[in-house]
Amino acid sequence: MAAVAPDVRSQIAEVHINRPVGADALVLELRLPEAIDPLEAGRFFMLRRDDDLSPAIPRPFSVYRQVAPDRVEFLIKVFGRGTQALAASQPGTRVRLIGPLGQGWPAWQPDSGPKWLVAGGIGSAPFFMGIQQALAQGVAAKDLTLIYGGRSKRFLYDLDQFAGLGVRVIAATDDGSAGFHGNVVQACQDLATREGTQAVQVFTCGPDPMMKAVLRFAQEHALEAWVSLETYMGCGVGICNGCAVGTVEGGTLGDWPVAKCCIDGPVFRAADVELP
Ligand SMILES: Cc1cc2nc3c(=O)[nH]c(=O)nc-3n(C[C@H](O)[C@H](O)[C@H](O)COP(=O)(O)OP(=O)(O)OC[C@H]3O[C@@H](n4cnc5c(N)ncnc54)[C@H](O)[C@@H]3O)c2cc1C
Ligand code: FES
Repeated sequence: MAAVAPDVRSQIAEVHINRPVGADALVLELRLPEAIDPLEAGRFFMLRRDDDLSPAIPRPFSVYRQVAPDRVEFLIKVFGRGTQALAASQPGTRVRLIGPLGQGWPAWQPDSGPKWLVAGGIGSAPFFMGIQQALAQGVAAKDLTLIYGGRSKRFLYDLDQFAGLGVRVIAATDDGSAGFHGNVVQACQDLATREGTQAVQVFTCGPDPMMKAVLRFAQEHALEAWVSLETYMGCGVGICNGCAVGTVEGGTLGDWPVAKCCIDGPVFRAADVELP
């Protein structure tokens, strides 16, 4: 079992920009009190406003982009009280953040075949820097494909920003309002028919039923896969057991039947975990 990351800290940041995106989300750019080391894609922070509007328990959010050593963006979909409070922030609002936490995407390996990054809705958040870092680590742009699905175009958050990364982006919408008319698994099947799946690696983040279907697809094609899970979390630092994820016997996580998403994940080798 992993330990809490040594670089974690609790600090008060200020909202710099609150930019609405899509039907129900926002990009919250926070200015930290001091510069921090470059963040690894796939890791996360626990966030809450430093006032009574947020619930007492902070909520976990993936790092979307680190735009400067002291400025970090989060892509946030509004669900309940915690996200509503963050969405109501204005420049200057104080936000407590704890992190960076957890294990991000595995090291990106150049020349190891095509990588399909399969995101559903807000599940795109950990992929923006993931793509930037894969490119920086020598993965050829032609080997990276983001397959980004949502109910409609309005749920493909910041699609133009993703499209500007210089890798292939396949949008997929249930209603056909953008890109491929269908869900991400159908888009994967379509791509497999056109290009084959030789040496493809799959990385996925999104709603659990979507990830399950993506992993079934990966299994049917004998593809290596990784998942970024979004369990409920209490503490974010391995204490409360609120983020338990079932482990697969014989996997690399050891013999214990559960792992903790906050410190062993949120990114896991798909073969190691049972999805909820
Ligand atoms: C490691 C990690 C990274 C995450 N990264 C992001 C991110 O980058 N951007 C982002 O928007 N969210 C992300 N999430 C999910 C986010 O933490 C939740 O959406 C948030 O905690 C909801 O808090 P709330 O107080 O607004 O809603 P709550 O009051 O806690 O819930 C309101 C309603 O929404 C439902 N709900 C809550 N969370 C989810 C969910 N994840 N999926 C489906 N239904 C849900 C609840 O069942 C409830 O019905 C991440 C979660 C984890 C564990
Ligand atoms: S959220 Fe508390 S142990 Fe993981």
